[in-house]
Amino acid sequence: TFVVTDNCIKCKYMDCVEVCPVDCFYEGKNMLVIHPDECIDCGVCEPECPAEAIFADTEPGLDKWLTLNAEYAEIWPNITVKREPPPDAAAFDGTPDKLDTYFS
Ligand code: SF4
Ligand code: F3S
Repeated sequence: TFVVTDNCIKCKYMDCVEVCPVDCFYEGKNMLVIHPDECIDCGVCEPECPAEAIFADTEPGLDKWLTLNAEYAEIWPNITVKREPPPDAAAFDGTPDKLDTYFS
């Protein structure tokens, strides 16, 4: 599966939902997650994210994010249509450790 990671938080560009062939993105207030059981590993979303927040779970060190994606994909609503990203998205692009402060 692919996973959404820290830099999505407060950036939330939503380009990813437009390209996913199986509509497996789920929406929180400040970030999206991928449902690991629905993702077909096509990899199309990874290069589309302007914040470079999406990775294959074969990359090392992503256990925390895989767990978070799996947990919140069960709780948050599905999202299939891109909207306007937050007006301050660019200002948060690259801010480290957004999970602790801005996750929701
Ligand atoms: Fe959707 Fe493919 Fe990205 Fe998985 S890898 S979330 S199936 S676009
Ligand atoms: Fe987040 Fe990137 Fe999608 S910022 S909403 S994973 S396009």
